[in-house]
Amino acid sequence: MADRKKMSVAEILAAARAEAGGQAKPAKTAEAATPQEEPAPSEQPAPSVEKPTAAVAKPGAAGRPSVQDILAMARSKAGGKPGGEPPAAAKPAPKPAAGKTGQRANESGKAVAAKPVPAASGPKKNVQRDTASILAAARAGAKPGPVSKAEAAPVAKPKPKAAAKPAKRPVPQRPARPAASKAAKPDDDGRRSFLSYAVGSFMAIGFTALSVTGGLFTLGLARFFFPNVLAEPPSRFKVGSKEGFPAGKVETKYVAQYGVWVVNSDFEGVQQIYALKTVCTHLGCTPNWLETEQKFKCPCHGSGFYKDGINFEGPAPRPLERYAIRIADDGQLEVDKSKSFQEELGQWNDPESFVTA
Ligand code: FES
Repeated sequence: MADRKKMSVAEILAAARAEAGGQAKPAKTAEAATPQEEPAPSEQPAPSVEKPTAAVAKPGAAGRPSVQDILAMARSKAGGKPGGEPPAAAKPAPKPAAGKTGQRANESGKAVAAKPVPAASGPKKNVQRDTASILAAARAGAKPGPVSKAEAAPVAKPKPKAAAKPAKRPVPQRPARPAASKAAKPDDDGRRSFLSYAVGSFMAIGFTALSVTGGLFTLGLARFFFPNVLAEPPSRFKVGSKEGFPAGKVETKYVAQYGVWVVNSDFEGVQQIYALKTVCTHLGCTPNWLETEQKFKCPCHGSGFYKDGINFEGPAPRPLERYAIRIADDGQLEVDKSKSFQEELGQWNDPESFVTA
């Protein structure tokens, strides 16, 4: 007991920790100091001595670890966890047992029960922050950090997966197509076919018109290379026998086709059959034979001519002209328009200008 009293507080604490953790390794210093002073088997150390409170009983001693160091060492030995529970030494020491054992306890540490441990007592226990809580508070950034473990627990790291997953938005269902659109499909087809037919027909009409125009243009071009040829009536034509022209008769049936009057009349005391030209000597109009008036009357300016063709009224300056006439081989009278005879020139006396009746 005397040796134990000589042990320092640190040695006592180390011995107590070794015994509490099942490691019966006394402190080296204690062994080195008192190797032969092993306690007797009958003398078990008092539980009050094993408490670290005995070590804390005398703070401020020179060369001894501080209370915080002792606590840190105890935590590290208890499990090495920064957030581990404080060792039992932090708890206040119970009252010493009565009797011999309690007396020994009083002897080993006189001030064990007298002075409480300043580090493990009172509100300072909550003031200390462990590393995990400080880190959690720094990560959260919401507040300076929890004061105790109880506050640090809810500041656990947020689960990124839960935050990353956004809530699924309800997908709206596509409305069903109205039945009218399906029913309108045939109309669309009909409209398309109508438009195609219409466009096709318009194109066909256009191409047809273009083809017709091109054909006509080609025909006109070909006609340009083949000019008109006037089909004039023959200059000679037969009007029948002399018996068909009685005296005093003016035949008008050849006016339209040949432009000739065939007249059987007396001229200068000779009964003649001659062919008068149906062209007014004024400006070329065609006079009319007036049977009642026995004269040729021009409708243009009123010139009048006798039956023998002598002009007697109107602007006509001279008598009508005659064509050549003769009796053909077959006995018929033949008129030749290629020859004409003028009275003012004395040509009516030419035997080719008349046929005696
Ligand atoms: Fe016959 Fe003028 S044309 S009178």
